[in-house]
Amino acid sequence: MSHKILVLGATGNVGQPLVQTLLRQGQQVKAASRSAKPVAGAESVVFDYARPETFPAAFEGVDRAYVMLPTGYVNSKELLLPVIQAAAERHVKVVFQSAFGVDADDSIPYRQVEIALEKSGTPFVILRPNWFSDNFHTFWKAGIDHGQIAVPAAEGQSSFIDVRDIAESAAAALTTNRFDGQAFNLTGPEAVSYAKAAQILSEVICKPIAYTPIDDQTFIGMLIGAGVPGDYASFLASIFHPVREGWTAAVTDHVQLLTGKPPRSLATYVREHATALRQA
Ligand SMILES: NC(=O)c1ccc[n+]([C@@H]2O[C@H](COP(=O)([O-])OP(=O)(O)OC[C@H]3O[C@@H](n4cnc5c(N)ncnc54)[C@H](OP(=O)(O)O)[C@@H]3O)[C@@H](O)[C@H]2O)c1
Repeated sequence: MSHKILVLGATGNVGQPLVQTLLRQGQQVKAASRSAKPVAGAESVVFDYARPETFPAAFEGVDRAYVMLPTGYVNSKELLLPVIQAAAERHVKVVFQSAFGVDADDSIPYRQVEIALEKSGTPFVILRPNWFSDNFHTFWKAGIDHGQIAVPAAEGQSSFIDVRDIAESAAAALTTNRFDGQAFNLTGPEAVSYAKAAQILSEVICKPIAYTPIDDQTFIGMLIGAGVPGDYASFLASIFHPVREGWTAAVTDHVQLLTGKPPRSLATYVREHATALRQA
């Protein structure tokens, strides 16, 4: 009988807390990644978006799947559409991690993946998280170590979301059919500028952190200098346009709707990751 939940990107930012949440709820989880890194309590399985021959074993015994694209890939349609198709062929329910705001324009590749899922005939839920709070201890950590966050956000605000709230929303979407056929825009409880985020960080980790707004070209050059491939650096710069326009400042109650709990604030995230954020 098929009753297992396949979690793609299981050892990543969202995947890790999602697997833990599902295991706490007593679900049977297949934790998928290229390395099939063991996750206590789950069944680890090899999965590679670029190697469709890994799909059948990953989907074996599965009736629900969390589908997301790991950081660093720009060819979202090419990698995600075959996974959606493989799920639909097996009538596996898909909870798809998309991105905030992609529904603004049907030509956006992530929106095209959403549309393919909507038309696939398999049960689905779409989650569109805003910018992750957790980027401060991943993407922006090297800058924080040097006392500076430099991004092309101008004074734009974002309702940053904690990955734990994405994971808990995903667990709710995976474990009930109440939310099937719907899309949810996941945000934190308030919109915060990068200047305000730098101030919160400075106060909590007791170290001065400045925010320096920069232009796209400076940002791309900085990322390439840090080893990020050019196409991904350009992609990252492009997604700051909605921030400057104020579109990522919207706040929704969708985490509360899915989980029954309010989302964590950026200040809560910073307090609870203070040790990691402080470590050079
Ligand atoms: N960061 C943000 O602010 C933000 C905001 C909105 C939406 N998003 C979206 O969220 C996604 C990233 O989520 P995340 O940060 O949770 O992901 P992540 O941490 O980057 O995902 C890493 C996971 O994916 C696995 N992985 C990497 N390459 C793989 C491949 N080719 N095939 C199979 N598994 C692979 C990794 O394990 P192995 O290396 O062992 O394979 C690991 O388990 C992106 O699509 C992004 O667009 C991000």
